[in-house]
Amino acid sequence: MKNDLEELKNDFLKLVKEVGDRAQLEELKNEFLGRKGKMKGLMKDMASLANEERKVIGAFANEIKESIESVFGEHEERFAAEEESTRAEREWVDISEPGRFEGAGHLHPVSQAIGEITDIFARVGFTAVRAPEIDWDYYAFESLNLPKDHPARDDWETFFVDAPEGKKGKIVLTPHTSNSQVRTMETQEPPIRMINIGRCYRRQIDITHVPMFHQFEGLMIDKGVSVTHLKGVLDYFAKTYFGPDRRTRLRPHHFRFTEPSFEVDISCGACGGEEHENCRVCKAGWLELGGAGMVHPNVIKAGGLDPDVYSGFAFGWGVERTLMMRSGIKIGDIRTLYKNDLRFVKQF
Ligand code: PHE
Repeated sequence: MKNDLEELKNDFLKLVKEVGDRAQLEELKNEFLGRKGKMKGLMKDMASLANEERKVIGAFANEIKESIESVFGEHEERFAAEEESTRAEREWVDISEPGRFEGAGHLHPVSQAIGEITDIFARVGFTAVRAPEIDWDYYAFESLNLPKDHPARDDWETFFVDAPEGKKGKIVLTPHTSNSQVRTMETQEPPIRMINIGRCYRRQIDITHVPMFHQFEGLMIDKGVSVTHLKGVLDYFAKTYFGPDRRTRLRPHHFRFTEPSFEVDISCGACGGEEHENCRVCKAGWLELGGAGMVHPNVIKAGGLDPDVYSGFAFGWGVERTLMMRSGIKIGDIRTLYKNDLRFVKQF
């Protein structure tokens, strides 16, 4: 029995040297001294010994147990010390190291332009409104003095939605933002000063056209509004968005929903409107911005207002076009804006 106990201790001493970490050490201790361990196994045999002998063996077994425990303790301390000494190294963090850059993005150039344009008009009291981008024929055409089958509709290469006609006609992808004119008059009391920036759709794609683009529409309705007000607002916009040296010009044109109607031109930024013969950008000293005019009496009527009391102006043109005409912005092809090529977008 004594020999068995000696052997047990020697086994432990041998095995404990091979232990690599704390968990293994714990396991080994359990194997020897645990409830189902080797020591317990030997103790069971003690029951069969005579009283005298059992005392002696019992005391000896205790000694063995204590010495195993103390060896165990030594090793445990060693592991603890080791762990402590490498802790600083393991848990070291360089707080001066620069953080990982997560690549902050920015708004798309068209979104930037929309924000800027909205802001410029807000400063002279034009409130931003939104009209549907998929709307009834009535708001996109008919209420704008464009009856069904009127040839002037052909100017708009419209996408019609394949859906049942309603009281207000077919459903269309709005070809311009002018659908906001009557919609705003229906819901707001004059004086009205609104700006609507939205998506428009036309069947067209080439270097200066995309099937989905943005327009902004301005509308002012009040008593005694005249062309002078229109010209003042357009000049203010041109100078603020394009630069203080830019001028605007109104050229007679025709729209069904304005009378008189104009094309709005802006003096060329490249030649200042002076060297138009040699200028590669404008050729005539002026660049065409978009359409404008005094709201047609029939449109004012469609908006539920009396054209003998109220008058107003409206204007509307493309956001992309406006952005591309800004000095220093050299976008040769409008389609580049929608190619989702980061090398392009990141330049803004
Ligand atoms: N809706 C017209 C277009 O898309 C522009 C316009 C708006 C003209 C308002 C006059 C008044 O061409």
